[in-house]
Amino acid sequence: MTIDEKAAKTLDELGLADSNGVGELFAEVRAAIECEVDSFRRREASDSDSACEAKTLRDRWLARGHGLIAQIDQNWLKATPKESRGMVGAEFNRLRQYATSQIDVDSLPGARKTTSAARGEAARGPDLTLPGNQRELGSIHPVTRVQRELEDIFIGLGFRIETGPEIESVYNNFDALNIPESHPSRDDWDTLYIDSTTLLRTHTSPVQIRAMRKHGAPLYIVTPGKCYRNENPDATHSAMFHQIEGLAVDTDITFADLKGTLDFFAKKFFGERTRTRFQPSFFPFTEPSGEMAASCPFCGGQGCRTCKESGWIELMGCGMVHPDVLRHGGIDPERYSGWAFGLGIERFAMLKYDIGEIQNFFQSDVRFLKQF
Ligand code: DAH
Repeated sequence: MTIDEKAAKTLDELGLADSNGVGELFAEVRAAIECEVDSFRRREASDSDSACEAKTLRDRWLARGHGLIAQIDQNWLKATPKESRGMVGAEFNRLRQYATSQIDVDSLPGARKTTSAARGEAARGPDLTLPGNQRELGSIHPVTRVQRELEDIFIGLGFRIETGPEIESVYNNFDALNIPESHPSRDDWDTLYIDSTTLLRTHTSPVQIRAMRKHGAPLYIVTPGKCYRNENPDATHSAMFHQIEGLAVDTDITFADLKGTLDFFAKKFFGERTRTRFQPSFFPFTEPSGEMAASCPFCGGQGCRTCKESGWIELMGCGMVHPDVLRHGGIDPERYSGWAFGLGIERFAMLKYDIGEIQNFFQSDVRFLKQF
């Protein structure tokens, strides 16, 4: 039988006539109070909601009329025949005193803010010797931290931040980027479609189109944001991840501008001794297209576990903006040319902080997040 069930019965119904049993019963109630106060205090240390819990605990035991002490008064003491009233009364007084001292609002720290503060301070003024309420400050998420660092490097070069929607049109995500419906390269992106004309953007590249249409040329932008792909989660894949896209459109932009800017960027991010390498690749929205790699920041290019003994780390896709993409953005490819890149922010964060699992970023484990 629980304490609550016992409190609802009379001593007679509980089969307790002799003083021994009654003493034990009251001891059991005190033990229950001790146990509940104890577990409250343990929770209170880690819980900011404790003011509410303190009130619940107080009401449970001390509320007038329906609290457990009131029930015990009613059912055990008042219903006891005169002969044993004195003994039960003494036990009851001890119990009530114990309960009020243990569950006193002042001794339950969580309750202090609402109750004793409101009651006492109006009359006496606040007690300035009490420690203040400490609030634990959070920290910047490592992906956000690295995103800002990447942004800052490009802002320093005169680029502006431009953002676009995560729910994007199929047209901006694919067609305008020179990936027609029939083109096999559409399969490279494991797309999450919302309906036949809308999807969760698979990359930040559609913001190129939006920005060109909105601002025209010349244009120097970086576009950070979330992207989505139908990926099974593993150490390096997540269905939601972040990219930063870069786009420079102006008169006389050449591949040398791309190489110079990205080499400068890699040295800023990974250190002055970083070397860069450009290899041919394919993206439908750039021609020519490239993959940029940097000398491994862990071994300096000697070869190690992180760079799989190659000395190089692939960092991003890049290339000269395809004339059709400029045209879709409303810019005349006869007058203007441009270069672009796209990179995964988590990958940069993993390299910077030597994190082996992309999943760490999204599990909200405070032990992980606290380190940043
Ligand atoms: N959008 C590409 C992707 O998600 C990355 C990319 C490659 C972006 C080359 C670019 C680029 O702007 O020029 O795989």
